[in-house]
Amino acid sequence: MRGTMVLFLFMIVFLSAVTTSFAATVTYDHRALVIDGKRKVLISGAIHYPRSTPQMWPDLIQKSKDGGLDAIETYVFWNLHEPVRGQYDFEGRKDLVSFIKLVKQAGLYVVLRIGPYVCAEWNYGGFPLWLHFIPGIEFRTDNEPFKVEMQRFTTKIVDLMKQESLFASEGGPIIFSQIENEYGNGDIEPYYGNRAKPYVDWAAGMATSLNTGVPWNMCQQKDAPDPIINTCNGFYCDQFTPNSDKKPKMWTENWTGWFLSFGGAVPTRPVEDVAFAVARFFQRGGTFQNYYMYHGGTNFGRTSGGPFIATSYDYDAPIDEYGLIRQPKWGHLKDLHKAIKLCEEAMIATDPTITSLGPNLEAGVYRTGSGLCSAFLANVGTQSDATVNFNGNSYKLPAWSVSILPDCKNVVFNTAKINSMRTLSRFISQSSEDVASFSGWSWVNEPVGISSQNAFMKLGLAEQINTTGDKSDYLWYSASIEIKGNEPFFQDGSQTVLHVQSLGHALYAFINKKLAGSVKGSSGNAKVALEVPISLVTGKNTIDLLSLTVGLQNYGAFFDLKGAGVTGPVQLKGLTNGSTTDLSSQQWTYQIGLKGEEIGLSNGGSSLWVSQPALPKNQPLIWYKTNFDAAGGNEPLALDLSSLGKGEAWVNGQSIGRYWPTNNAPNGGCVSSCNYRGSFNSNKCLKDCGKPSQLLYHVPRDWLKPSGNVLVLFEEMGGDPTQISFATRQIGSLCSRVSESHPVPIDIWTSDQEAAKKAGPTMLLECPSANQVISSIKFASFGTPGGTCGSFSHGKCSSKNAISIIQKACVGSRKCNIGVSIATFGDPCLGITKTLAVEASCT
Ligand code: GAL
Repeated sequence: MRGTMVLFLFMIVFLSAVTTSFAATVTYDHRALVIDGKRKVLISGAIHYPRSTPQMWPDLIQKSKDGGLDAIETYVFWNLHEPVRGQYDFEGRKDLVSFIKLVKQAGLYVVLRIGPYVCAEWNYGGFPLWLHFIPGIEFRTDNEPFKVEMQRFTTKIVDLMKQESLFASEGGPIIFSQIENEYGNGDIEPYYGNRAKPYVDWAAGMATSLNTGVPWNMCQQKDAPDPIINTCNGFYCDQFTPNSDKKPKMWTENWTGWFLSFGGAVPTRPVEDVAFAVARFFQRGGTFQNYYMYHGGTNFGRTSGGPFIATSYDYDAPIDEYGLIRQPKWGHLKDLHKAIKLCEEAMIATDPTITSLGPNLEAGVYRTGSGLCSAFLANVGTQSDATVNFNGNSYKLPAWSVSILPDCKNVVFNTAKINSMRTLSRFISQSSEDVASFSGWSWVNEPVGISSQNAFMKLGLAEQINTTGDKSDYLWYSASIEIKGNEPFFQDGSQTVLHVQSLGHALYAFINKKLAGSVKGSSGNAKVALEVPISLVTGKNTIDLLSLTVGLQNYGAFFDLKGAGVTGPVQLKGLTNGSTTDLSSQQWTYQIGLKGEEIGLSNGGSSLWVSQPALPKNQPLIWYKTNFDAAGGNEPLALDLSSLGKGEAWVNGQSIGRYWPTNNAPNGGCVSSCNYRGSFNSNKCLKDCGKPSQLLYHVPRDWLKPSGNVLVLFEEMGGDPTQISFATRQIGSLCSRVSESHPVPIDIWTSDQEAAKKAGPTMLLECPSANQVISSIKFASFGTPGGTCGSFSHGKCSSKNAISIIQKACVGSRKCNIGVSIATFGDPCLGITKTLAVEASCT
C-alpha cells in the first residue's frame, strides 16, 4: 500500500515536471498582470536568441532562472526571418520556436516583442531591406503598403506561435506581446505629423484582432489605446504611470548597461544603481520589470545596426557576452529578486502608500487589511547617508539606496550593500601550442576597382543603400580621367588634391590602383570627407572609391531613409591656383560587393588561395585563410585580432562579425571608479578611453570541430594575420566585501530567521564550478580595508588574524561562510563599523 502511494506521488511529481503546464488565462488589472486569476510580480530579462547560439541557449536560460527571473523577453527579428519577401527562415540561431520551447522547459514565461520594428542596435531596426523598395511605401506611418506588410509579418509570427501552442492561452509560456517599439518618443512620433496617431491606433487594433489571448503592450506610447498597456523604458521608471487606472505599471526596458560602438568607450552601469532603480520601481507600485539586456551577446555577421554598433553586444549585462555570470551584478540582483518576492503577497494585494520620511527620504508601504505589510525605504539623496524612523524603529539608509522590509520591520536587502561575491573575469591568451596551431596562411588579393561581370555604369553619383540593397557593406565607385597636361588643376602630379564627400560610413580612395587615403565616420556623425594630395599622370588615370557601410541606422524618425555612400561632390583641385574640376556628374562604374564575396571566399573554398612563404602583410584589400585545431576545455573562446585593421572574420563559413581593432575610443570621458550615487546616463561610467573599442571577438565553441577548422579574414586596411591569437574567457579571483552593517544574506534569512538574526552579517565565498575548491586566500582584512577586488589594501584598522581565520574556514572547500563580526575576528578598533574584504582563488 505504502509502495503504491509512493509510486503514485512520484508519478504526479514526474508528470508535472515533464508537462510544465502554464497559465490558461492572462489578463490584467490596475495592479498587475493576472495569471490564472492571480496577480503576479514578475521579473523578466532580455536574451535575443540570434545573439547567441542554440547550444548556448539552455545554459543562458538556466542561469537566468537561477538569477531569479520569471520570464525571458525577446524581440522578433523580421530581417532574419524573411530575408527575401515570402521566403522564411527559422533555422539555427533563427529558431525562435525552439528558443521559446527551451524557456518553457525551464519553467519560465516568455515576453515576445514582435515589433516588427525593434530598434535593438540591429541592422535597419529589424526591417528587411526589401521593404524599402516596395512602391509607395512609407515606414511607420498611416501608409497602406507598409501596413499590409507589417500586418502580414505580425500575423505570420502570431500564427507560428499559435501552431505550436506557445501562447499562455493555449498552455504555452508567452504571457505578453509587444507591437511597435517606442514610437511615442518625442524624437519619433511628432515627425510623422497627423498620420502618426491613425497609425498607432491601427497598429493597436491590428494586434488586438490577432486574438492571442494574452495582453499586448506598446512601450513609450502614452496614448496607447485600450486594451493595449503603455509601458515604460529607461534607466529609471519609478515616476511612470500608465495612461489608465485600469492598467498596471510595467517597465519593459531597464537598461543594465549600454551598447558599445566602434570608436566609443566601453559603457558600464554599477549594480548598486540598477538595483536602486528596480527597488524604486517596485516601491512605487510597479509589478513587472524587464532587464534590457540580461544577456546581450554578440552581433554576428552583419546584424549590427548603428551605424558603427560594435560586434560585441555585451551591454554590461548580468550574464556577459560569453555566457559567464558577471559578479556581483548577477548575484546582487538575484538577492534583490528574492527580497522583492518576499513582498509579493502584500504587493499584489494593495497599492502602496507613499509617504515622505524627510528630505529625499521616502517610504512605500504595502499594508493589507489582513495584516500583511511590506515596505521599501528609500534615500534618493546623492550625498549623505540618513537615519530614518519608520514604524517606531530606526533604520540607516545609505545615500542613493533602498532598503526592503518584507515584514515592515526587518531589512533583508539594501541596494547599496552587496553581499554577493565579485569575480574578476579575464581573457587568458592561449599560446599557440595550447590552442590553435594555425597551420600556415594563404591569401587572395581582392582587386582594386571593378572586377565583376555585374558592374554597371551610370551618370552621376549614386546613394549606396539604394544601390546595394544592403547585399554587401561595399560599393565601388570607379571613374577614369584623361590628363592631357594642360588642365588648370594639374600643375605637377603631386599638387592635385582629391576631395570626396560621402554620407558615410567609411571610405578608401585608390588612385591608379594605389591606396591614396581613407576616412571613417563615427556614431555621432556618419558623414565623411576626404581631402588628400594625389599624383596623376599624363594619360589615363583611374579613381576607385570603395565606400562602405558599418551597420544600417536603427533609430530615429525616418531612419530608413538615411543614406550612405559617395553622393558628392567628388572633385580634383589644383593646389596653387585653386581651380577645381567636378567629377560628380560624369560617368561612374559601380560594383556592388567584393569579388571575394561573389565567389564565396568566406567559407574557404576556391582554387584561388595562394600559399607561398612570403605572405603579404600590411596590405589593403586582402583575404587570408588558415586552418586550426580547436583548444581543449569548455571555457568560452575569443579571437584576439589586435594585429589587424578592419574587416570581417569567418570560422568554418560562419561570420563572427565585423572586426575593427584600430578604431579607438576618444581619450577623454572615462572614470577610473564609478560613483553609483546619482542619476545614471549612458556616458556616466565609461571605461577604456583611448583604447580600441573591441579587440576580442567571440568564437562560439559549437562552431568548431576538434581539428581542421577554417578561419577566413577579409582585411580592408592592412594588418598582420600571423599575430592573431586565441584567448579563453575565465573567471579569475573571487572577492567579497561585507561590513558589519550589511543585512544577513537573504538565503540565510529565508531558511531560518531566528538563526539568521543571531548569525548577523555573513560573507559567503563559493567557487564558480562544482569541481573547484578555494585554493588560496590572496588577501583578507577585517577593519577598514581600502581598494577594490584585485587591489585590496589594509586600512588603518585591521585585525591581525583575519587571513588565518579565513584560510582555516575556506581553503580546501568549494564554499565557506564567515560571520562578519568581532565575535569572529576580535575588535581591532572600537566604535568603528568594520568591513571584511577577501580575495581568494579557486582551482
Ligand atoms: C531603446 C530601444 C531598444 C534599444 C535600446 C538601447 O530605445 O527600444 O531596442 O535600442 O534603446 O539599447
